[in-house]
Amino acid sequence: MKALILAGGKGTRLRPITFSMAKQLVPVANKPVLFYGLEAVAEAGIREVGIIVGDTAAEIQHAVGDGSRWGVQATYIPQPEPLGLAHAVLTAEPFLQDEPFLMYLGDNLITSSLKPLVEAFEQRQPNALILLAEVPNPQEFGVAELQGERVVRLIEKPKHPPSNLALVGVYLFDKHIFEAARAIKPSWRGELEITDAIQYLIDKGYAVESQQITGWWKDTGSLDALLEANRLVLEDLKPSNEGVLEATQLHGRVSIGAGSVLKRCTVRGPAIIGANCYLEDCYIGSFTAIGDGVRLVECEIEYSIVLEGSSVENIETRIEGSLLGKNVSVRGGAKRPRTLRLMLGDSSLVEMP
Ligand code: TTP
Repeated sequence: MKALILAGGKGTRLRPITFSMAKQLVPVANKPVLFYGLEAVAEAGIREVGIIVGDTAAEIQHAVGDGSRWGVQATYIPQPEPLGLAHAVLTAEPFLQDEPFLMYLGDNLITSSLKPLVEAFEQRQPNALILLAEVPNPQEFGVAELQGERVVRLIEKPKHPPSNLALVGVYLFDKHIFEAARAIKPSWRGELEITDAIQYLIDKGYAVESQQITGWWKDTGSLDALLEANRLVLEDLKPSNEGVLEATQLHGRVSIGAGSVLKRCTVRGPAIIGANCYLEDCYIGSFTAIGDGVRLVECEIEYSIVLEGSSVENIETRIEGSLLGKNVSVRGGAKRPRTLRLMLGDSSLVEMP
C-alpha cells in the first residue's frame, strides 16, 4: 500500500499566515501539522509516500526532504492548480498506479493509529474505506448516511444531517477511485470533490465501507480549529526544561527549549516554549505554544500560537486565542498619544477590547 498526502491547496481560511507559508507547516505544539501525518503514515507501516504540492512546493520539500527522517520514501507530485481533492488523486495516478492507497489531508490531525484501518482494508478489500468521527456540528462537514458499516450516501454540509458522522481527512481507495474522479464534474466551487467521487463509487455498486475513529480528529485549516488542535496536542505534553529560569514559576506541564531565558515569569501549563526565547515579566497561560527565538516582555499570552522570531512587548491587555506569524512585532507602552500604529498584511485580523 502507498500513501498520498495532500499538501497543496489554497489555504484561504488561514490568511494572512498562508500568504507567506504553507498551512501544512504551521506548527501545532511547535511541530508542523504535516509531520504528525507523516508519523501516522509511517506508523501504519507505509513506506512509499506521494506528497501533493502546490505553490508552496519548495517550502514543503525543504521541510520534509526525502522522508528518511520518518523511514519513508517521499515523492513530490506537483498539482498545477488546487482543483480539488479528487483532482489531486488524478494528478497522482502515475505515482499510485494500480496499488491501493491511503489518502491523508496534510492539514489534518488524528490521534488514533491508522494501522487497524490499513489492516481492515487489506483483509476485507472493499473499493473504498472512509473514516468517520462523531461531531457536534455535522452541518459544517461532509456527512455519511450508513446502513450497518456500508455507506449509502455522502452529503456536503447538510441542512438536515442524516447522522452526526463527519468524514475525517483519511481515506483508503483502490484503483476504482480514478474512474470515479474522471467521471465527476466540478462542484459549484469549481473543484473535483472527493465526496462526489465516493458517491459515484456508491452509485455504481462498488463497496464503500466506513470505520469510526476512537480518538479525536481536527482539520487545522482555520484559526479556531488550529487553536483547538494545539490545545489537544498540549494536553499530552511531557514536561521538560532545558532553559534558564530566574524568579520564575512553572505550574503544571511546561516544556522549555535549550537556550531560552525566563525572568520573573509565570507559566501555567500545559504550555510549550521553544529554544532561544527571551521572556521577561510575562504570564504564559495554558494551551500556548511559543516558537523558537521569540521575545516576550511585559505581556500576558494564553491559548495562542506564536511563531518563531516574533516579539510582543509592553502590552497591557492579555492576548488570547491568537496566532502570530513569523517575525511579527506587537509593541505597546507609549502612554501618549493614545493612538494605534499598525502595519498589517492583507487579510489580517485585529480585535480590540
Ligand atoms: P482544504 O482545506 O479543503 O482546501 P484549501 O487548502 O484550498 O483551504 P481553504 O478552504 O482554506 O482555501 O484542503 C485539505 C487539504 O488538501 C489541505 O492540506 C490542502 C490539500 N489540497 C490539495 O493538496 N489540493 C487541492 O486541490 C485542494 C483543494 C486541497
